[in-house]
Amino acid sequence: MTALRPALLVLFGALLPGAPLAAQRPCDPQEPRGPSHDLYCIEMVPTGFADRATGMAELDWPGGPFTVAVAPDGTHRWRLRLILAGLPDSLLRGPRAAFVAWALPPSLDTMIRLGVVRNGSTTTAPVVALDRFYVHVTAEPDSSARAPTGRAVLRGESAGNRLRPADNYQFFLGALDPGAQRAAPAAPSGHQGHHAPAPADTMGWTAIPMYPGLEMLPSEMALRPATRAWRPPEDPTAPPARPREVRTLADGDTLDLAAGVVRRTIAGRSYTMFGFNGQYPGPLLVVPKAATVTVRFANKLPLPSAVHWHGLRLDNKSDGVPGVTQDPVPPGGSFTYTLTFPDAGIYWYHPHVREDLQQDLGLYGNIFVRPPGPAAVDREEFLILDDLLVGDDGLVPWGGETPTHAAMGRFGNLFLVNGEPGWRGIAWTGEVVRYYLTNASNTRTFNLSIPGARLKLVGSDLGRYATEQWVESIVIAPAERYIVDVRFDRAGSYALINRVRALDHLFARFFPEDRILGTIDVGRPVRSRHSARFDRLGADTAAAAEYRSVAAQRGPVRTLEARVEMTGLPFVTHRLMQLDSMYFNPVEWAGTMPGMNWATTGSQARWILRDPETGAENDSIAWKFKVGDVVRLRLVGVREVLHGMQHPIHIHGQRFLVLAVGGVPNELPVWKDTALLPAGGTLDLLVEMTNPGRWMVHCHIAEHLQSGMAMVFDVERE
Ligand code: C2O
Ligand code: CU
Repeated sequence: MTALRPALLVLFGALLPGAPLAAQRPCDPQEPRGPSHDLYCIEMVPTGFADRATGMAELDWPGGPFTVAVAPDGTHRWRLRLILAGLPDSLLRGPRAAFVAWALPPSLDTMIRLGVVRNGSTTTAPVVALDRFYVHVTAEPDSSARAPTGRAVLRGESAGNRLRPADNYQFFLGALDPGAQRAAPAAPSGHQGHHAPAPADTMGWTAIPMYPGLEMLPSEMALRPATRAWRPPEDPTAPPARPREVRTLADGDTLDLAAGVVRRTIAGRSYTMFGFNGQYPGPLLVVPKAATVTVRFANKLPLPSAVHWHGLRLDNKSDGVPGVTQDPVPPGGSFTYTLTFPDAGIYWYHPHVREDLQQDLGLYGNIFVRPPGPAAVDREEFLILDDLLVGDDGLVPWGGETPTHAAMGRFGNLFLVNGEPGWRGIAWTGEVVRYYLTNASNTRTFNLSIPGARLKLVGSDLGRYATEQWVESIVIAPAERYIVDVRFDRAGSYALINRVRALDHLFARFFPEDRILGTIDVGRPVRSRHSARFDRLGADTAAAAEYRSVAAQRGPVRTLEARVEMTGLPFVTHRLMQLDSMYFNPVEWAGTMPGMNWATTGSQARWILRDPETGAENDSIAWKFKVGDVVRLRLVGVREVLHGMQHPIHIHGQRFLVLAVGGVPNELPVWKDTALLPAGGTLDLLVEMTNPGRWMVHCHIAEHLQSGMAMVFDVERE
């Protein structure tokens, strides 16, 4: 770590106390706009040896470049802060005696020593990685004890520990068949997670794939979405899609970009899908910083569309949002966009009309805005991550009038990198490869690693970190981008792997979901000009100075709550969701409630951004700012809703820094346009209003956006 880090810590730490929004921690006296006390603060209970003792254990964000901290296997990481009072000092006999805090998983098989704690004070313990656990405080005759031997004085358990296997009530509910008139789903057929095709219901739905290895209740699997099943009409004349091409554009160039129907062959099966210029993903546009490029967009889809240039601080007229900056482009129509690229970085483009199906069908591509000067690495790779939901009779249809999967978003079961399952990359031993990662999935947050290789995180959405960081894995939510350098020190084959902890709601257990997304074949050693530099963590003093000066500014303060309202749900869905609301994991990493989620449509779920100052929601929010304003925006994931989950919040046309996560100051700011708000958590953002126009804020889970979770704000010229 360079000397820069303490300076930034002081800067961001110092900024918060005087700031208009005090950083609110989970165990602070409860205030409605803080992180959830219920999920992130353990209230400990005194034992018979300590009737007046009180204690709280706060699950704090431990810092790092991602707003959600996890170990490489996907277990959440916490820095526990223990706030204790009224401990019976009479239990401490002898000069070496002390109170000691411990964390234990529910199996009680490992005891993690959190350290000596003192009566009447707050202790920050080392970082632990645990899904669910107990916290105990004991009076130890010897403060250096490796395992507890003394009397327990306080005990508590994490919110995750409230999960219990379904009781009889839930099983009875599960036996109900709300759709007895419909075709019963076929029995699960082993590990592939496919059903034998069942006859379609009147809306065209059959069944969706089960989650491999999980039991589902019959009533859940009998649910069907109340909207028409839609798939792109078969088009035998559609051309087979080609892998993406690189299009290098210079200042003043014009690009023709057409969205059209293509044939795709994926894992040996053929599908009618969409593509830009007949490619998967769309062409990779490489442009110099500060260039201006004209794009002539032609819509050859059977649906209205438009193209949004995600992350670019461009002219508002070219932002590509129907209803806000343009009319939808009808089938056969066209639209001309003028793109400008003020910031080096990695961006992407996708439609802003029914993202849940248009983007999912393959309409996305990267834009690389090359910084001036030579690249500091041997090789550059641009990887777009996605997942596709495939059933026995092809792609699972999308909702005709409104999205399906409006609860958790459409999780796929086939992982794609650059549109291909089993992606293969190459490198030579000793080379430094720079990976530009973009998450184009509808809802999935990835936790990526390359076992055997060291990962150096250098940048994110719109810029570079002031200090580069070694990371063990990369947490990337929909629409986010991360830039990571990797040096392969031995020849061989390396896996690009997604490792998360999925939640089995019926049996109340966390289990590993590990999926290999691709392989990197590393050949013989070569001489690399960049290899030696890889071992050092670079510092960007200009970026650090910029972050510091922006963060020192004062400006308007706003709050946005993330909520949901569900209406007209089948009784079974409503009750099972209520039971599941006992606990929300900070991130819903896997689609382990496939039936309920699928059958919930955008007419039943209304996802909400709410301004608590005015009570206005979604499109009735009318915020106005001026160019030059630096806005402090607190995002609050409201816990007390029927289904709480994470939201990757995206702001169009501007850039922002994350100042704090759950009230803990962020030491590693970087310019972003999308940030992941954990369930029940808070993010404090600093949004720099530099670009006049009418811009959108929304959740980038495609089904949440289509279910209302969006607003616009105006930025006026000074
Ligand atoms: Cu990438 Cu409004 O979106
Ligand atoms: Cu969302």
